[in-house]
Amino acid sequence: MSDDLGPLAARVPAALRGAAAYHVPQPPRILAKLDANELPFPLPAELRAGLAAALADVGLERYPDPRARRLREVVARQLGVAGDRLTFGNGSDELIALLVAAFAAAPATILTPAPTFVYYRLAAVARGLPIVEVPLREDFTLDEEGFERAVAAHRPSVVFLALPNNPTGTLWRPAFARELAACHPDVVVVSDEAYLAYGGDSNLAAATDNLVVMRTLSKVGMAGLRVGYTVSSPAIAALLDKVRPPYNLSTLDQAAAVYLLEHAAAWCAARAAEIVVAREALAAELTGLGLQVAPSRANLLLVRVGPGAATLWRALADAGVVVRAFGDTGPLAGCLRITIGTPAENALLVAALRSALT
Ligand SMILES: Cc1ncc(COP(=O)(O)O)c(C=O)c1O
Repeated sequence: MSDDLGPLAARVPAALRGAAAYHVPQPPRILAKLDANELPFPLPAELRAGLAAALADVGLERYPDPRARRLREVVARQLGVAGDRLTFGNGSDELIALLVAAFAAAPATILTPAPTFVYYRLAAVARGLPIVEVPLREDFTLDEEGFERAVAAHRPSVVFLALPNNPTGTLWRPAFARELAACHPDVVVVSDEAYLAYGGDSNLAAATDNLVVMRTLSKVGMAGLRVGYTVSSPAIAALLDKVRPPYNLSTLDQAAAVYLLEHAAAWCAARAAEIVVAREALAAELTGLGLQVAPSRANLLLVRVGPGAATLWRALADAGVVVRAFGDTGPLAGCLRITIGTPAENALLVAALRSALT
């Protein structure tokens, strides 16, 4: 596929021309999909049947409810927050883009630790906004003083902190987000709690003024839906509503999310708890195979393999196990990120690793 835009290239911001699209390599035969941090368990038959019945009544001839009122009611009730503090997005990816777009008055800089979730950077680049990245320490912990200095020096519009972080799995001190927000009332601090179910500590109670809590259904069994939300002040929610495409959540997404939150939340939470147990067992097994595994509070393990990482990725792919690789430059050079799978998937991974490493 040619990427030559001809004379249109000059119309594209330089940072966007130089950026790479989010691309996930897919081997032809996948037996264990451990590359996207999903909860791997399919819904049981009873919940599937209930979901099918709930969706059967959905009318598709009209546009979706732009306010997602039913879903708003359910989430507001479950979290114990007022409905006018919620903003729904087509996945939290969309909410990240909305936050960046809403607080884009010049000079607007986006500040994140690095490495972290790649879409923060992509969303900034897409808007032509500068991004400042504060390197994590060697052990992937957050350099709080360095981060504070960067906030003071760059006066960012939005700061993203993934608590726990992807792709490292590290849980930084959640109170740090609250402290930053309290010290810098003109900075939006986003506490991205995508992996909360696997070992976070929520900032929900502190989500006021300039601290925004972001959650997604993707990591707790509903990645196919594309539903995320923020809890913010009503003023920020009203602002996000101005940049949100009015029908960003389809009627099917809304109805499915309502059904699943009302009927499947306990099932999802129990499966997530199983993943936490499996994560610790898998970390011990991988360490036993001589791999260097970063401590994780998410549903993933970051493993430092070294120069053989690409070869190991290929050997795993040939065995039908797909994990995430990061190339051979930057702080994640030589690393692989492994999502915790079902017991069968984890066993397949360990067998493939054992045969590749011995
Ligand atoms: C930290 C973090 N935030 C947000 C997301 C986006 O999730 P979604 O757009 O599926 O809600 C991800 C996905 O991997 C993530 O790792």
